Amino acid sequence: MINIGIVGLGTVGTGTTRILLKNRKLLRERTGLDIRLRKIADLDVESDRGIRLTRDLLTEKAEDVIDDPDIDILVELIGGTGVARKIVLNAIKRRKHVVTANKALLATHGIEIFNAATRYGVRIGYEASVAGGIPIIKVVREGLVANRILSIYGIINGTSNYILTKMSEENAEFGDVLQEAQRLGYAEADPTFDIEGVDSAHKLAILASLAYGRQFTVKDVYTEGISSLSPMDIGFARELGCKVKLLAIAKEQGSRVQLRVHPTMIPEDFLISKVDGVFNAVYVKGDAVGETLYYGRGAGDMPTGSAVVSDIVDIATSCEDGTASVRPVVPVLKRAISVMRMEDVLSMYYFRFSVLDKPGVLSKISGILGKYNISIASVIQKGRRHGKAVPLVMLTHHARERDVTRALKSINILPVISRKTIVMRLEGK
Ligand code: HSE
Repeated sequence: MINIGIVGLGTVGTGTTRILLKNRKLLRERTGLDIRLRKIADLDVESDRGIRLTRDLLTEKAEDVIDDPDIDILVELIGGTGVARKIVLNAIKRRKHVVTANKALLATHGIEIFNAATRYGVRIGYEASVAGGIPIIKVVREGLVANRILSIYGIINGTSNYILTKMSEENAEFGDVLQEAQRLGYAEADPTFDIEGVDSAHKLAILASLAYGRQFTVKDVYTEGISSLSPMDIGFARELGCKVKLLAIAKEQGSRVQLRVHPTMIPEDFLISKVDGVFNAVYVKGDAVGETLYYGRGAGDMPTGSAVVSDIVDIATSCEDGTASVRPVVPVLKRAISVMRMEDVLSMYYFRFSVLDKPGVLSKISGILGKYNISIASVIQKGRRHGKAVPLVMLTHHARERDVTRALKSINILPVISRKTIVMRLEGK
């Protein structure tokens, strides 16, 4: 019998509890394990969550889980990097295995937590921390272990994907769609981490650590969010045969890896560009397997609970066969791989200049781009407003970020430019 203690009975805690109770028999038949829910800690032990729980299962104190010597696995589902960090470290010190869905914690304090787990001989399961119900951690850690991972492209934040999908379908402004998403309960009251790319950056740091054998943190990831995108740019992207997605990108280039999260134009005929609404998808390219794609729900009580329970079963299995304390916590290779500076990254670019509609403007702009070795792939100018501002859209061939930054600095101060140029990176054509 394996005893489980859950700390945090919110959305994911409730989903996990429901699965453990509902599928206990199925799990036993499938794995031979008897997984028993022994204690659940939450500050609110009164609210009705639609599951039948006996009062003695519930406690208001996390210590009742941490200090219970019979609990084998502590499941941390409170989130955040403060209290959660203490709970996880204390559980590890009491030689409990830990399962967590907490990407912020692992992407910020992963090194400390994994080192502690190694020292005390316990395991950390974190399948639920990236892309909810999609078993992407197992894919990268186990399924594709034979491969050098050449690249990862992830749509790994459902909130921002929902907002971008709505902006595209309804030609709506970012602020209006965000408000609607909050009303419908898709976006948090404070959606900053979701819309500013931070949540995706947390998840990318975790995936890249597994893929490239070095513990990356959120600080290693270049991050831009979607809050300054306008429906006009999404519309131009569509005219150019592209969708706009908040993409988390990891790409190996020799001894360096690019780690970046930003709004990205991707061709409409790419499978990943069909991933709309709250859904997540992760594309992984390995040197042996080639291209692979994983799709599913990245959030929610039952999908995320599904991932939590898979970790519980995994760890419970290794407890039963006696390998729990000898299996490595993470496949640490400690590879000499460094993060490529953003200014060294090569990408294709979309520019939307706001220019005065008069002769000679295009040649001024293209002259500066040429000076910085930026080659133009196509140009769109819409409308005619003699002497007034009109949008001028350009796509470039591959250019270096450093050159783009310098060129735009020169262009943005031209008298014919009426507002700061909008820039998006484009992948994959
Ligand atoms: N807030 C995340 C999202 C879900 O919107 O995808 C939890 O990781």
